[in-house]
Amino acid sequence: MDVTLKQGRILDEAADLAILATYAEEALPEAIAGLIEADDYKGTPKQTALIYPRGAVVPRRVLLVGLGKRDELKANTLRQAAAIGVQQAQKLQAASVTIGVHGPMPLDETRAGQAIAEGLALGAYRFLRYRTNLKPEESFAVSSVALLTDEANAATQAGVTQGLAIARGVTLARDLVNTPGGDLTPPDLADAAVALGQRVKVTVTVLDKTQLEEGGFGGILAVGRASKSEPRFIIMEYGTPSADTPTICLVGKGLTFDSGGLSIKPADAMTTMKSDMGGSATVFGTVQAVAELGLPIHLVGLVPSAENMIDGDAYRVGDIIKTLSGKTIEVLNTDAEGRIILADALHYAQQYQPKAIIEFSTLTGAVIIALGAYATGMMGTDQALMDALRQAGEATSERVWQLPLWDEYKEMIKSEIADIKNIGGRPAGSITAGAFLANFVGEYPFVHFDIAATGFEEKPTQAYHMAGGTGVGVRLMVEYLQHYAK
Ligand code: BES
Ligand code: ZN
Ligand code: ZN
Repeated sequence: MDVTLKQGRILDEAADLAILATYAEEALPEAIAGLIEADDYKGTPKQTALIYPRGAVVPRRVLLVGLGKRDELKANTLRQAAAIGVQQAQKLQAASVTIGVHGPMPLDETRAGQAIAEGLALGAYRFLRYRTNLKPEESFAVSSVALLTDEANAATQAGVTQGLAIARGVTLARDLVNTPGGDLTPPDLADAAVALGQRVKVTVTVLDKTQLEEGGFGGILAVGRASKSEPRFIIMEYGTPSADTPTICLVGKGLTFDSGGLSIKPADAMTTMKSDMGGSATVFGTVQAVAELGLPIHLVGLVPSAENMIDGDAYRVGDIIKTLSGKTIEVLNTDAEGRIILADALHYAQQYQPKAIIEFSTLTGAVIIALGAYATGMMGTDQALMDALRQAGEATSERVWQLPLWDEYKEMIKSEIADIKNIGGRPAGSITAGAFLANFVGEYPFVHFDIAATGFEEKPTQAYHMAGGTGVGVRLMVEYLQHYAK
């Protein structure tokens, strides 16, 4: 889908579908107003009406999409409206689309352009790789979208360009999450990183099983031991460290399939476990988008990747693992495996002496109970960093909500016979997982995001989401790195 900017008015330009975003309590253009009952369409957020004008109006069809009151406009309303519009265009098999938001723009123009581009690209997203029985309207792709503006506008153009790059990062993350575990093993995930390094200016290094053994990555090796697909550790580096390019480490859980191991999951809980590499997908998507945007930072993406399976050599309940840091973990449940592979990766991150270690993982079912799909769980050791990330979450509508990491929670995971144990019981399950991770970051500012509920949705929570991988965290991180990391 090609998105261009053009000076013009929606009713004067030819298109298979013209999407006219309108504000509540404002008059519709005269040529349209007579064609619709005022009571049927009020322009409230996400409301739509499809009309077939005749005569003076040039486009074949006009889709009205509501934005609510002009002075209350939010970026996410634009993002949703654009998604609703492009989805309607797909249904109608409209190849050429115009989209118009006329009159004074109450938001910053760059942000508005970005939100519209994200809504278009993410709203059009589908995962069709495995469908062989597609109906024409299911696979139809809009070929061109012209965003019509009242005047030539470089800020909007900049926003659109950025939004499309960010959406490509989100799309990469969604594709990785949606790919089944059988087709995305740890070596496959490493190959995806190598391919990323060929597309953008990112240096990719992959450690294979032998190198993990030589290096002492005891956590990744233990969790991955029962799988026919060997574990990997993936390092993606963008930019170089310098006085004015802060180093940020992004860490993502890359569990390509989580059966639970010997502490096996019930059948129903296993159905979505191809998505247990969602944290790594966020890292892939963010690294790609940051490289495309050329942000002035040094970004290191670290992905421990393993498959949690069962065989005669599977790691056992009761086993004690020596991690890369030298700290020992008593395994009391093999299904709490994410924190074990992350222990190695978080320790590894310290060598970069980063300004921040920010980690994403589908870590606990408990966070689904705590927050549902409307917020990502956030825990960390640096309040200023978390405040900035919370703001980035509001700005992108990828909301995050903080849970405490008080000392009492750290007590819950102390072990009698090892340094730490990998479960702390049912209470505060997400927090004890976060407290576990905090043991491996040294003194570096650290934030953990638990995306178990937000990384994969069976029912979309936004118009620009589909059932399946959301790519959550990519837009959040790019926003943070663009606006706050300075
Ligand atoms: N990958 C799961 C967490 C998860 C659950 C992600 C549901 C997405 C949806 C994780 O490895 C896990 O199984 N965690 C256990 C921890 C428990 C054994 C302490 C859980 O949450 O049940
Ligand atoms: Zn698990
Ligand atoms: Zn898991």
